[in-house]
Amino acid sequence: MNIVGISCGYHDSACCLLQNGRIVAAAQEERFSRIKNDNSFPVAAFRYCLDQAAVSIADIACVAFYEDPAQKLARQLWMGMLPGVTQERRAAIERRALATHPLEEIRLVTGYEGPIEVVDHHLSHAGSAYFFSGFDEAAILTVDGVGEWPTTTYSSARDTEIKRLDQVDFPDSLGLFYAAITDYLGFEVNEGEYKVMGLAPYGRPRYLDKIQQIVEDGAKGQYRLNFSYFSFLYQDRMFSDALCELLGAPARASGAEITQFHMDVASSAQRLLEEILLAKVRYLHTLAPSENLCMAGGVALNVVANSRCLNEGPFRHLFVQPAAGDAGGCLGAAAIAHVRRIGARPDRERLRHVYLGPSNSVEGTKRILDSSGVAYRDYRHDETGLIDTIVSRLIEGKVVAWVSGRMEFGPRSLGARSIIADPRHPEMRDRINALVKKREAFRPFAPVVLEEFAAQHFALDHASPFMLEVCQVTSAIRLPAVTHVDGSARVQTVTRGANRRFADLLRHFHERTGCPILLNTSFNLRGEPIVCSAIDAISTFGRSEIDVLVLEDFVVDRADVPQAWRTFRPNTRAALEFDVYAML
Ligand SMILES: [Fe+2]
Repeated sequence: MNIVGISCGYHDSACCLLQNGRIVAAAQEERFSRIKNDNSFPVAAFRYCLDQAAVSIADIACVAFYEDPAQKLARQLWMGMLPGVTQERRAAIERRALATHPLEEIRLVTGYEGPIEVVDHHLSHAGSAYFFSGFDEAAILTVDGVGEWPTTTYSSARDTEIKRLDQVDFPDSLGLFYAAITDYLGFEVNEGEYKVMGLAPYGRPRYLDKIQQIVEDGAKGQYRLNFSYFSFLYQDRMFSDALCELLGAPARASGAEITQFHMDVASSAQRLLEEILLAKVRYLHTLAPSENLCMAGGVALNVVANSRCLNEGPFRHLFVQPAAGDAGGCLGAAAIAHVRRIGARPDRERLRHVYLGPSNSVEGTKRILDSSGVAYRDYRHDETGLIDTIVSRLIEGKVVAWVSGRMEFGPRSLGARSIIADPRHPEMRDRINALVKKREAFRPFAPVVLEEFAAQHFALDHASPFMLEVCQVTSAIRLPAVTHVDGSARVQTVTRGANRRFADLLRHFHERTGCPILLNTSFNLRGEPIVCSAIDAISTFGRSEIDVLVLEDFVVDRADVPQAWRTFRPNTRAALEFDVYAML
């Protein structure tokens, strides 16, 4: 039984394949198209999923789509008819809404002629968390910007059934509230929200009373936005002039200096989000008194809020879908379709890793390196040698790009397409920002730690394989490159079972240094998606100043990089057409 899940049309399109209830492949379209957050129909991801499972269109029992296009259209047309919406905007909304036909696109683009299962947007989010949590029963909270009409849902789940108990509807939306603050602070909406979260610990919640005026916490599961402070119903800008007046300062222009004021606003907005979420988690527990909480939706990527929900809320166990944003909706849609068709749950096991994307064949990678003329070291039959070499480089303070095995699904790099470094070096954060990230210096990098040593170095008593929680750093080792200003870190724990080579690298680093922790951040340049193929890795390494590239079994040093690599940028469209990826 092959079920394809698809999410697309708004943000970060993705496709997955569920085979007899097991996820065998999942990837975001941006990794192939090289367009960050690509929202177009995920044709390349679809082709990858079928190739990975070695199945054809004829083998697909069902395609599941992650939201109801008719309901979404109704909401979009309602937005166009609001009093105060200009004629021009109404026409633009209608043009955009009526031009989108995802269900027809599935047939036109892929040639698929079988059944299509439409799954409600928040049910897709709920399913993406619950069905991969390993829990037999749970309460589920989904929170995002908006799908069709709901923006927050409260559900209980037992075995195959997810029962929605309450919801908050558009235009009241915690996701859109946080997006408006993101916009006000000069960051890109749907992308810069985690920068607001990263900025918050540098500030104090001095504006909490003012921010409380723009979102009013309501009884039970409800809350309300005060629409005099928001303008997303009427224009592309998310906030109104009244918000600037309330906070006493104009919005920050993109790229302008970040001041204490901006940090304090971020801190206030983060505090309010956490407090409302915590109240809603407590409310959910009264509806669904379980020990287990599942979370998904874009707001569930706010790891600081998640940790407060777990630590201060009534639930004992938390599972957050690692691809909590809309990309992960394809997983939930496919799982729900599986339940509807089979009458049984998909695979009951808890999701242990997200290495669900494409890999580079070793021989294909060698061919590419050979044809490029670069000098490289070949460790095809010597993994210990490879790990020894890389540990030595890390100890020397080098920054290493690490491409190994199948790519991660979801927004985080977890040791398959990562940049790694020694977290003990005081200048490492600045160095990586200068070499590759070219980003705001305030944001900390994340630590990855061998799971068995996590409790010795962090206030963490359970596994955190997806970097979805924050906790205090308690280590006796100074870890300046991965410790936030408030002493916290966004920890990833790793085991040999989840990622053997990455765990072995950490183990050898620990043996030689006494530190079982590395800095781990995503391997991409600013504004670009995380690398996928060997060609992306070469292009990104060439255009950065990273010291060492590990590309599967091969190691390239910066000193050996030919001039041509420094400007190499593949023509992705041509690469896809000529199926370069199939060569790998
Ligand atoms: Fe969503």
